[in-house]
Amino acid sequence: MRVLITTEQIHARLDEMARQIAPEYHGQPLTIVGVLTGSVMFLADLVRRLDMPLRIGLIQASSYRGAVSGELRIDASLLADVRGRHVLLLDDILDTGQTLARLVQHLHEQGALSVKVAVLLRKQGRQVHPVNVDFVGFEIPDAFVVGYGLDYNDEHRQLPYVAVLSS
Ligand code: XMP
Repeated sequence: MRVLITTEQIHARLDEMARQIAPEYHGQPLTIVGVLTGSVMFLADLVRRLDMPLRIGLIQASSYRGAVSGELRIDASLLADVRGRHVLLLDDILDTGQTLARLVQHLHEQGALSVKVAVLLRKQGRQVHPVNVDFVGFEIPDAFVVGYGLDYNDEHRQLPYVAVLSS
């Protein structure tokens, strides 16, 4: 495993991202929605840097097993009503954009006042589904990464850094 982004780099970047995000929502009803499971570290570390009233929600998106590729099932049973609230959607990584494009659409359909997107990582040259990303932690090359919430076979999520998984 080769470390791509160190713990120190992540924390320094989260300080900057929190400083960018906070003024956008000054005095507004905000719900920060993390996409399970990969965003849990990002969510926990980012919200502790935001000294403002906010709610936290969780949402899950998974591919339908055996269905036509591209179909996603959204489980929003852990997410309280977002009607009349601004939503900041957090995910670990933007790859093709399919997951976030679908989740943004879902949150608008649920009556969110606005939906912005923050990702820790954006893979270069991979996006095919248009999605507007408002806050990006790091641009990374097209490699499979693990750690800091990201997994391979549901393992390695607990690593405090982002690493490239070598074969
Ligand atoms: P899309 O293509 O919908 O994909 O933007 C987003 C989801 O795909 C997973 N993903 C990865 N997971 N290392 C991972 O551990 C990676 O390099 C990687 N690339 C994509 C991830 O679940 C993300 O939410």
